[in-house]
Amino acid sequence: MARKKIIAGNWKMNMTPSQAVELINTLKPLVKNDDVDVLFCVPSIDIIPAMEAAKGTNIQIGAENMYFEEKGAYTGEISPDMLTDAGVKYVIIGHSERREYFAETDETVNKKVLKAFEHGITPIICCGETLTQREQGVTIDFIRQQIKIAFLNVTAAQAATAVIAYEPIWAIGTGKVATTEQAQEVCKAIRECIAEIYDEATAAAIRIQYGGSVSASSAPELFAQPDIDGGLVGGASLKPDFGQIVNYNK
Ligand code: 13P
Repeated sequence: MARKKIIAGNWKMNMTPSQAVELINTLKPLVKNDDVDVLFCVPSIDIIPAMEAAKGTNIQIGAENMYFEEKGAYTGEISPDMLTDAGVKYVIIGHSERREYFAETDETVNKKVLKAFEHGITPIICCGETLTQREQGVTIDFIRQQIKIAFLNVTAAQAATAVIAYEPIWAIGTGKVATTEQAQEVCKAIRECIAEIYDEATAAAIRIQYGGSVSASSAPELFAQPDIDGGLVGGASLKPDFGQIVNYNK
């Protein structure tokens, strides 16, 4: 069965609750495309108003982060039950910005992935190399390690429903998009890694996105690659351009 593309916006730390509603109202008519899953991952405080604004549309609302404990004395964190109670079905886990600025590691990513599955939330698991790693020729080794740790103790049935986002760090917010060949090569290697950990059926089912300076002009070629099942879009997801990205195939 063909994998359905998933095109997600990652708003990062942008948009107040009222701006979120305004942006969704602007984008609503532009992001209609039944061929793809359309997801906006928004700041925690925007989730509830965004859900309300997106009601009755094809837009799904996801989260940008989640803690790996159920509840308790973890000031400032957001729990899986808080997300599911708000209707959230997807959460970004292990974005490179969280790894860099908030000390996330492959191990905490794994804990969060397991916790998300326990609560029926689909994790969008981020991976990606630095420019130095790419220049040293260790990209694939590095990403295989990130994937293997992220998926520790995850069952094949769970893994089949997961989303992986390949985001080369040097391409994030830089306007320097990976070439189609580079993006496809790594996404293919990720799928092969999943086949090794699990089996061919799991590898064929899992969805792998590319992220890093995706734009209306780069999206069509990227998303046409055999192992790229959509994108995780930062900057361009805050603009009407996101409508063109979602409609890359029209
Ligand atoms: P940009 O699209 O702004 O490069 O951000 C990519 C990203 O980090 C999405 O998670």
